[in-house]
Amino acid sequence: MTKQESEEATEKATDPSPPDETPARPDATASEPPEALPEEPSRRRALTTFVSAGSAVYAAALLLPAYRFIDQPRGAIGQGAHFFRIAPLEALPEGKPVAFKVRGDQQDAYTLTRNQTLGAVWLQRQGQTVRAMTAECPHLGCAISLGPENTGFRCPCHTSRFSLDGQSESGPSPRSMDTLDTRIKDGWIEVAFSRFRQGVVTKEKIG
Ligand code: FES
Repeated sequence: MTKQESEEATEKATDPSPPDETPARPDATASEPPEALPEEPSRRRALTTFVSAGSAVYAAALLLPAYRFIDQPRGAIGQGAHFFRIAPLEALPEGKPVAFKVRGDQQDAYTLTRNQTLGAVWLQRQGQTVRAMTAECPHLGCAISLGPENTGFRCPCHTSRFSLDGQSESGPSPRSMDTLDTRIKDGWIEVAFSRFRQGVVTKEKIG
């Protein structure tokens, strides 16, 4: 060993500087799981919105039948005074009674059936005013027809007779023909069609 080599060896052996402090790499085989990252706020919000929307849809599905029962859609019989469009006013001749079918939606607690024949009405026009009476006999519900020469109405089942304005004249019918409210809207005759209890003196709406 030369003198220079001998001095360098002596310096290394007495060097007081600290050893290399480069941090050690984590051990990939360590069994301890990595600490979970905190959830992003936007992701949490999206999850909350999704769960809320799902709950709302489920609740709506449960409540829909009850809602229908309480608030039936317009145009369905069984919901009180609703006007059904019957015919253009100009299609109705002056004075002479004409029978028309009433068509609309049939609603019960859970089912809505579209465009059904709900009954029939007799209409009589006097200028811009229209009188409407149900064609169902107040006795037992047979269809009332117009008598000969348009002098009044007749029920073929048990020979009840009514005047042209629907007043009871003879026969077993316990009351006169049942009148209905009307209105003219956009040139059309609309009738507040309802059904009434049969076989009783008073006019009692049943649907
Ligand atoms: S049903 Fe009309 S008179 Fe009996």
